[in-house]
Amino acid sequence: MTTASLLAQLNIKHPIIQGPMTGSDTPALAAAVSGAGALGMLGCGMRSPAAMAEAAEKVRAAAPGRPFGMNLFVLKTPSPDEATVKKALQRLAPLYAEFGLEPGVPAQWCEDFGAQFETLLSLAPPVASFTFGILSREQVERLHAAGSFVIGTATTVAEAEAWERVGADAVCASGMEAGGHRGTFLGDFHASMIGTLPLVSECAQRLGVPVIAAGGIMNGRAIAAAQSLGAAAVQMGTAFLACPESGIGPAYRNAMATASATDTRCTRIFSGRYARGIVNTMMEKLAEFEHDVPEYPVQNALTGALRRAAAAQGRADYLSLWAGQGVALARAIPATELVETLAREIRDAARG
Ligand SMILES: Cc1cc2nc3c(=O)[nH]c(=O)nc-3n(C[C@H](O)[C@H](O)[C@H](O)COP(=O)(O)O)c2cc1C
Repeated sequence: MTTASLLAQLNIKHPIIQGPMTGSDTPALAAAVSGAGALGMLGCGMRSPAAMAEAAEKVRAAAPGRPFGMNLFVLKTPSPDEATVKKALQRLAPLYAEFGLEPGVPAQWCEDFGAQFETLLSLAPPVASFTFGILSREQVERLHAAGSFVIGTATTVAEAEAWERVGADAVCASGMEAGGHRGTFLGDFHASMIGTLPLVSECAQRLGVPVIAAGGIMNGRAIAAAQSLGAAAVQMGTAFLACPESGIGPAYRNAMATASATDTRCTRIFSGRYARGIVNTMMEKLAEFEHDVPEYPVQNALTGALRRAAAAQGRADYLSLWAGQGVALARAIPATELVETLAREIRDAARG
């Protein structure tokens, strides 16, 4: 499918999707992006059903009649054994102690995916996207019946084909350059660290549905490059994270402003699932446990209070500073201006 037909289907002007960013996006960011003719998204992985409804309402009020998307983590609520949790807490205790805190077991490991999914159906956003797993054909059909365009996230061609088989309308092909969590749900994480260039090229060759390129795309030239590989649109996270409308605090902003591509790594020490972020003290201190922390979402929940304490004190050393390899190219400008600039850059790139 071409860019033009995807834009018509999504009712947007520019082939640009603001990547959902759980914990860091805001309704104001999504509304500004959608209002500027691109597609704003809400990362709802950690939003409760009530918070999902509230966020969607805010976007609808701030960008009336404009399309927007909501994104969920496809997750099963875990039931970790006590010994695993105890070991993880012991390792985190010295870090918590620096804030005068003791680590504990949180009230819940994660939001209930079933409840989030039913809320999504009732909110019926124009776009519903998913990562960390895959839906059944029946779930996709229910979203279609509600009127949502369905996007599945893939880190390999096999994952992209699996999404096409269950009826997804488009696949977001996420290269290893991308900031935040890897969406890998089939096969080995390391084998799934495929760069945006080959991943998008092969997906575009093999799939019948449109491919949305994600990972390391920071300007209009990169958008044009992704289109020349066969992508119908792009999804950009790190670029929009730097906008003043995102939810990150000054410590995170400063870390982004001084980071270069060599400062990011993929780690599972924060959450139990590999994610790309800027190297900091917490990443270095826990590096020895890289292969021995509980799976997502358990480790994510166990480190949550520590990261919130660091954020409250404006400290970047104990935050998860998710950002992609393009971080040095991020521009700290309002989201409307960023969309307009990107649109101009795409036109310039097309002119040669
Ligand atoms: C802070 C942050 C949080 C993210 N959270 C989510 C999320 O909740 N769901 C999702 O599908 N992708 C998430 N991503 C991935 C982005 O939506 C996007 O695909 C990715 O950032 C693209 O790569 P880039 O950062 O190089 O632009 C996140 C990325 C970042 C940087």
